[in-house]
Amino acid sequence: MPVFTPQIIDWYRQNKRDLPWRSTLNPYHIWLSEVILQQTRVDQGTSYYYRFVEHFPTIQFLAEAELQDVLNLWQGLGYYSRARNLHQTANAIVKLHNGVFPTTYAELINLKGIGPYTAAAIASFAFKETVAVVDGNVFRVLSRFFDIPEPIDLSSSRKFYTELAQTLIDKTQPDTFNQAIMEFGALQCTPKNPSCSTCPLQEDCASLRNDTIGLRPVKSKKTLVKNRYLHYAIFRHQNKTIIQKRTAKDVWQELWEFPLIETEVSRELNASDWSMGPIENVSEEIIHLLSHQRLHVRFYHFNEFPESTLENWKIIELQNFESYPIPRVIDRYLSANFEL
Ligand code: ADE
Repeated sequence: MPVFTPQIIDWYRQNKRDLPWRSTLNPYHIWLSEVILQQTRVDQGTSYYYRFVEHFPTIQFLAEAELQDVLNLWQGLGYYSRARNLHQTANAIVKLHNGVFPTTYAELINLKGIGPYTAAAIASFAFKETVAVVDGNVFRVLSRFFDIPEPIDLSSSRKFYTELAQTLIDKTQPDTFNQAIMEFGALQCTPKNPSCSTCPLQEDCASLRNDTIGLRPVKSKKTLVKNRYLHYAIFRHQNKTIIQKRTAKDVWQELWEFPLIETEVSRELNASDWSMGPIENVSEEIIHLLSHQRLHVRFYHFNEFPESTLENWKIIELQNFESYPIPRVIDRYLSANFEL
């Protein structure tokens, strides 16, 4: 077997970043950091981590918070189901475990809302359990170092990677090994343009030897991206505007938005589509990418309210809209176009 574990740990000792969640053993704080980092990169995630720890210093604070406050703090990270899940899981831990974080992988994975990756991260970082984490970084590093052609998006091969990682983990320092392999994936063995020429593992790296770095890791499916066309009405009357909450099981559930028309095809709406007029201004089409959707968003400005209003509409001062949890694309548009 080529030498992997000591080399990756050596590399880590020399190259690791000093990150706030690496100097704590508090399982709740570690959990927060891992959920945030599943959603964003370290440079952006760090400020969210500090804000969450400050607002909700213990799991009791998070469990007792209003969901809207949690979503507000999450704003900008996208994929809001993670924030809802965070809140629900905090409540479950308070109810089922008296607010004390479970200390083993087996108990952690039993919690609805904590998956294999997060359970392994908490168990190893906070409680030094010998359980390997497998995230996107780990798939990439292992598939390259061992030149593994198994696709990473099939559950059968995930098992293979998980077992491989479990054979490699350093039992005397499982936490360091897990941090090391992820950090190595984030900094050295990056998805695009990995730094192979300066890599201390280059001599043992099978895909470097076989010239397959660019082919690893393999994915069996292409991600299907759906186009959606969203048209938002900014109705304005005496500094007031109309907003609504998204309640459907869809993107941005529980967030607030302007009244919306969604069309099947790309086209600019006119006054009759809105059953009112005139439209004072129409924005350019803004493309907003989510993991599986490409949203085409336009904003239509009206200097009046419609004659009839819908039951779920809420009238607010426009400048107060940013204090609601709102999708990033709307927040950006407001900041760029209004003095709030
Ligand atoms: N990405 C996911 N978990 C991480 C961690 N603990 N440190 C740095 N990056 C990460």
